[in-house]
Amino acid sequence: MTQQTTVYLADYRPYSHPLDRVELTFRLAPQATRVVARLHFRPDPARSPGADLRLDGEGLRLIRLALDGTPLDCQPDDTGLTLPAALLPADPFVLETEVEIAPVGNTALEGLYMSNGMYCTQCEAEGFRKITYYPDRPDVMARFHVRIESDLPVLLSNGNPAGQGPGWAEWDDPWPKPAYLFALVAGELVALPDHFLTASGREVALNIWVRAGDESRCAYAMDALKRSMRWDEQVYGREYDLDVFNIVAVDDFNMGAMENKGLNIFNSKLVLASPETATDTDYERIEAVIAHEYFHNWTGNRITCRDWFQLCLKEGLTVFRDQQFSGDMRSHAVKRIEDVQALRARQFREDQGPLAHPVRPDSFVEINNFYTATVYEKGAEVIGMLKRLVGDAEYARALNLYFARHDGEAATIEDWLKVFEDATGRDLGQFKRWYTEAGTPRLTVEEEWKDGIYSLTLEQHLPPTPGQPVKAPKVIPVAVGLLNPNGDEVQPTTVLELTETRQSFRFEGLASRPVASILRGFSAPVVLDRAVSAAERAFLLAHDTDPFNRWEAGRALAKEVLADLAAGAPTVGPDWLEAMVRLVQDDSLDPAFRALALRLPGEDDMAATLAAAGKQPDPAALHTARRRMAAALAGALAPALPGLMEATQITGAFSPDAVQAGKRALHNACLGLLSLRDGGAAAEAAFAAATNMTDSLAALAALLEIGRGQPQLDAFEARWRGDRLVMDKWFMVQVLHAAPDQTARTVELLTARADFDWKNPNRFRSVIGALSANHAGFHYQDGASYRLLADWLLRLDPKNPQTAARMSTAFETWRRYDSGRQGLIRAELARILATSGLSRDLGEMATRMAG
Ligand code: PHE
Ligand code: ZN
Repeated sequence: MTQQTTVYLADYRPYSHPLDRVELTFRLAPQATRVVARLHFRPDPARSPGADLRLDGEGLRLIRLALDGTPLDCQPDDTGLTLPAALLPADPFVLETEVEIAPVGNTALEGLYMSNGMYCTQCEAEGFRKITYYPDRPDVMARFHVRIESDLPVLLSNGNPAGQGPGWAEWDDPWPKPAYLFALVAGELVALPDHFLTASGREVALNIWVRAGDESRCAYAMDALKRSMRWDEQVYGREYDLDVFNIVAVDDFNMGAMENKGLNIFNSKLVLASPETATDTDYERIEAVIAHEYFHNWTGNRITCRDWFQLCLKEGLTVFRDQQFSGDMRSHAVKRIEDVQALRARQFREDQGPLAHPVRPDSFVEINNFYTATVYEKGAEVIGMLKRLVGDAEYARALNLYFARHDGEAATIEDWLKVFEDATGRDLGQFKRWYTEAGTPRLTVEEEWKDGIYSLTLEQHLPPTPGQPVKAPKVIPVAVGLLNPNGDEVQPTTVLELTETRQSFRFEGLASRPVASILRGFSAPVVLDRAVSAAERAFLLAHDTDPFNRWEAGRALAKEVLADLAAGAPTVGPDWLEAMVRLVQDDSLDPAFRALALRLPGEDDMAATLAAAGKQPDPAALHTARRRMAAALAGALAPALPGLMEATQITGAFSPDAVQAGKRALHNACLGLLSLRDGGAAAEAAFAAATNMTDSLAALAALLEIGRGQPQLDAFEARWRGDRLVMDKWFMVQVLHAAPDQTARTVELLTARADFDWKNPNRFRSVIGALSANHAGFHYQDGASYRLLADWLLRLDPKNPQTAARMSTAFETWRRYDSGRQGLIRAELARILATSGLSRDLGEMATRMAG
């Protein structure tokens, strides 16, 4: 395995040599690009006196090295270049390097690489060192001037244009930035142009750059960008700060998108959308990610991270901001439910297993392995809690202070919390544990009703996580409301602040024993461990004024039904079915909300819930139980389905807005249920009639779910074979809906196809990611899927370690299952670990998971 050196937060030291300015020249060529860098250092005798100058560099061929024009004879090592202190002047000096790199062979998609004939870069977290020798760390912030030489027509970098001519272009970025925000793009691209007038009257040229032919699919992303820019002005008082803002779509990209200063680079699936090719979910993701990357301009770029342990400083805050934005654009209730579902599916799962780590980790081997649900999504939850604790007005004051105090700096979580302490006068010492301790707290509840006083006793339990066996109590904001038995709210939402292990809260002056709605809006990322009768859950599902808890009551009921069925219950009881029949026909409820409520709990979600309660999930039994539950729901709803489908049929032109999307979601949820009863007739008709991708894909999924749909798959392929993004959906849907005993086989057939371009991360994810997302298929008892996943990880690892490592997290849940499955998964992890030449990325993940 590649060397596994651990980096510790505690070892942080400022960089020895302040760097002011950087001039870069790129002479682009696929096999041999030359990069000339002129680094303007300004020695500071107060900082690390007598220190050597260390530059990071990997995979570079050093051509030339000179200090203030004088050639130097220093030999680089595998990870960089050291200039001995004795060689360094006491006055400002310029270090010039020239290196050669080969973008065409770069399959890791980190540094400068090529995608479909276009040059592009990805530098976060530590990719800039694959471009030139440099202090590649976020606390070194410098102004960049870039010259690109190439015959390609479009040459882009960060900042503002600073001249161009035949075969060259220059860019100047006036804002100091760390190297991870550097970007360069060169290619035969066309733009969808637009412009934006900022609040203070600055005219900004906007462009979305794509391959010719794709311009017609950029309108939604552009609209989302303009709405994001306006929103950040109105809600956070943050204006854009350059003359241009460029977005580029690339087909080969490891992640979703990247916030490079003034030149965001996006995975093309998060830019390109048309009604025929993108689903409503795609549109929603595009809007959210465009916003996310744009919002980074202030939370990430203007104020960046001191070191990579502080990653949540920019990511948690930016996710929180994009969630607020999406809520404002669409529905806060629906957005919150979706976000909590995603948090539970990815972050709670992470917290429950061997990869659990704090929102701010204190050590890592490979930083790329820490772009996790914990850092991002739990990082956002922590900010939501902070806002709830201090209130909206104080939150706004704190944010203004944050921007005023730290603009232009590389900051820490301590800086962030200090801002809140100074703005609000609160002591956040205990709150900080949310950043430093891993694990999902469990909250138990005791109720007492006596002499007109209702008391709630809350107790927090903090499960051990790797390296953190014992934990101190956390500050947990618990939003509570009380309803009286006729459904009226007698106590509007109030936030109880739990700071001790066990604490009681009293509500007085009540005429009758209330029904409590606890953890409204999911006010803290905890598991609420509370035995509630089915009748009370049904009551809350019917009456709760908090939409999140209303959904949650239905979800909890459904999980109980599913668990009972999987444990051998003969039938689905009436409480949940009756509640669903009522809810789905309640036209006062948003169709999107109803669609979410109709969605059955996922099998992985259920397995996690069982495991957390100390029970062993049986994947096959869960799968059968879920199918039976769906059939029972379809039966109970049968009389209502035709009317509902009629009422949610869209007439008129397609719009990706939340209202239409919600109707389609409910319509297609009904279609899925109907297919369980009509042999697929309605879904076949819907597929034939579909005029947008949401409806096509939903009909196809409904058919595959009942073991049909081959003619539709063929028709889909015939129509879309030339479209990479749409074909990703075709690959994925087949794997997601394959029967448990057919899943591995389906993957084998798909991966044998010539168009299974496994070096493209989207295509790899659409098949291999779907393999592990099909819970019953992945955990099929013969272990074939485990073996297949390990085979593919080992094949991808030498080419693209970052994506291989990400996909390996499918194995993180092994401890949940029976000893047979545990043994099979551990054998695959052992096989991975025994492979020679394993990357640091996959090596770290496999080591932690096996541990
Ligand atoms: N910083 C990017 C984002 O969250 C994510 C990313 C990380 C992209 C690393 C590429 C590489 O917006
Ligand atoms: Zn981000």
